[in-house]
Amino acid sequence: MSIRGVQREDAGRIRRIMKVAFEDEYRRMGLKQTRLPTMTDQLLGFYLDRTPECSFVAEKKGGPIGFCLACRWGTTAWLGPIAVLPPAQGTGIGRAMVETSITALKDAGVTTLGLETMPRSYRNLQFYSQLGMRFEQMTLDMSHFYKNGLSDEGAPESGPGLELESVAGTAGAERESALQSITAISGEVSEGLDYRSDVELAERHRLGETVLAFLDGRPVGFAIIHTEPYAKEETHGTARVNTLLLVPPSGSEGHLDQLLESMIIGIERRFITDGYDAMIFRVPVRYHSARDILLRRNFMINHSDVRMSCRDLPESDNRGVIHLSKWE
Ligand SMILES: CC(C)(COP(=O)(O)OP(=O)(O)OC[C@H]1O[C@@H](n2cnc3c(N)ncnc32)[C@H](O)[C@@H]1OP(=O)(O)O)[C@@H](O)C(=O)NCCC(=O)NCCS
Repeated sequence: MSIRGVQREDAGRIRRIMKVAFEDEYRRMGLKQTRLPTMTDQLLGFYLDRTPECSFVAEKKGGPIGFCLACRWGTTAWLGPIAVLPPAQGTGIGRAMVETSITALKDAGVTTLGLETMPRSYRNLQFYSQLGMRFEQMTLDMSHFYKNGLSDEGAPESGPGLELESVAGTAGAERESALQSITAISGEVSEGLDYRSDVELAERHRLGETVLAFLDGRPVGFAIIHTEPYAKEETHGTARVNTLLLVPPSGSEGHLDQLLESMIIGIERRFITDGYDAMIFRVPVRYHSARDILLRRNFMINHSDVRMSCRDLPESDNRGVIHLSKWE
């Protein structure tokens, strides 16, 4: 068995390994629904392009039998998906690939490194614990299906309102300034964090778009929203807010929750008016107010993962900001 860097040509094999390995694990977990939806070429291509220099496959003579993909946003990184063909599991391949990725990411200078996995897979909890990962928090998918369009619950009565603008709608110097705002806001949430590459990649793969949030003409937050189906079986119409950052400017710190509510409502309005009929927000449970606002707006919790991080590279966001993110 040898380990080498991932290539675009591995896509078909990776999809196959993922299907067999995850369905096998779902059966072991006792799930009723054990079929893994078929990831679209678009989403798989996006994953493979994210951080190929730190993503690896394990191969034997017949080709890859396992893979470990990585994603790096500046100095923050996470691993996933990861899988090994069932007959080859339990022989050290998963560990070898994960350790290779961790070394490559550390060499690239990451200071936060983790992953998200299924809390009910005791095997995975054991696997990552043995690799020195620690439990951080849960992350939730909170979703809402708009049967009758957007209900009339408006923005909060008092407090500041935000203006939203799409990064995709900008060009030239305006676009560069928008991208610089993405870097600046990320850095204010956590030193060295930078979502710029993910914003550009989502646009390049036509997977979705990013909206910047302005308060009195000043950029204070952004959200990366995927609008294309993730699975071949899925129909068009779901907008996924995978990332949402908000940094209140000085003087507005006391209004953080109102600003967040204004941003969430603005995003809902924008996408539901555009014809989407479902929205999913990814919510790390540490951000209680985000969960509460979404519950008030009739969102339902319909999926959970557990976030783990390397013992020496934990997540360390600044206080007084919002950082919704998906490490999966
Ligand atoms: C998780 C997965 C990638 C691990 O790969 P692997 O090659 O089987 O793992 P390894 O052989 O390197 O095992 C490393 C450690 O995992 C744990 N482990 C492996 N098999 C295990 C089992 N049957 N029961 C409990 N722990 C197990 C052990 O801690 C082991 O360490 P040890 O050998 O020192 O005891 C693989 O099992 C898999 O593809 N699972 C299905 C897909 C999935 O759930 N992926 C992870 C999503 S986040």
